[in-house]
Amino acid sequence: MFEILNKQIVTQDIKRIDIYAPDIAKKVEPGQFVRVSPEEGDEHIPLSVVDWDRKKGTISFIFQEIGQTTGKLGSLPINEPIFSVLGPLGFASKIEKKGTVVCIATGIGTAQILPICRAYQKSGNKVIGIIGAKTKKNLLLEAQMRIACNKVFIATQDGTYERKGLATDVLKDLVHKKEVDFVYAIGSIEMMKEVCRLTQDNNIPTRVQLKPIMVDCLGMCGSCRVKVDNKIVFACVEGPEFDGHKVDFDDFIRRMKGFEESVPCPHKTQFNQQKKESGPLMRFLSGILSD
Ligand code: FES
Repeated sequence: MFEILNKQIVTQDIKRIDIYAPDIAKKVEPGQFVRVSPEEGDEHIPLSVVDWDRKKGTISFIFQEIGQTTGKLGSLPINEPIFSVLGPLGFASKIEKKGTVVCIATGIGTAQILPICRAYQKSGNKVIGIIGAKTKKNLLLEAQMRIACNKVFIATQDGTYERKGLATDVLKDLVHKKEVDFVYAIGSIEMMKEVCRLTQDNNIPTRVQLKPIMVDCLGMCGSCRVKVDNKIVFACVEGPEFDGHKVDFDDFIRRMKGFEESVPCPHKTQFNQQKKESGPLMRFLSGILSD
């Protein structure tokens, strides 16, 4: 079980792994994730399921090796099993016919938004993808996004590829041309906050996937608390997808900064790029950091 069937280097330190997990493949839906421990005793890492094949019983994830555990996962050889894969976790995305749907992503969020783009396209929507990256060499999964979307725009901050600027600059143009019925965003907190500001001003419904620090991924440790609609919710069991206009992004930013400042930690992990890999102290703090 959980045998690694294939491994692929996507770019630099980002890898794709396909594993045999028939029970998960049978049930997983777009937007859900799994909790992975490469070897016995390792910490758990939450990874979005980016692809699956129900007939073959396989699931795939794409992750960045930015910590000890993700590094270990990336170094496991083909044909070896992963010790533990639990899921699918979280609620599936609400996929509906909306019209023109813009899926905007930055960083590893581009991998996580792929199944969302496919699902909206399959449901009869026109899907416009926007990918943002610092520079051309950081750009992820352009070819896959072009297959999953009707049209793709790319923005690089240094102008080394396609449009110079931010992904949100492209969104701004589309919104002003009144070409957008619905927006879905996954990426840095700042990007999602700006997306929601833009769409709220223009009355465009927006969903976001939040990736706070997760430790147990089961709703028991309290580390993934976020404020949505003025209530504290746990992203692992009540998300990770939320109405972007109801998310308190300032509180989210404050909480993530609190983690960074409280525990300077050289190890980072994948679920979002802000997350620090959680040692015992982090696990303890994750339970006590509050508003
Ligand atoms: Fe959500 Fe622990 S990770 S409560």
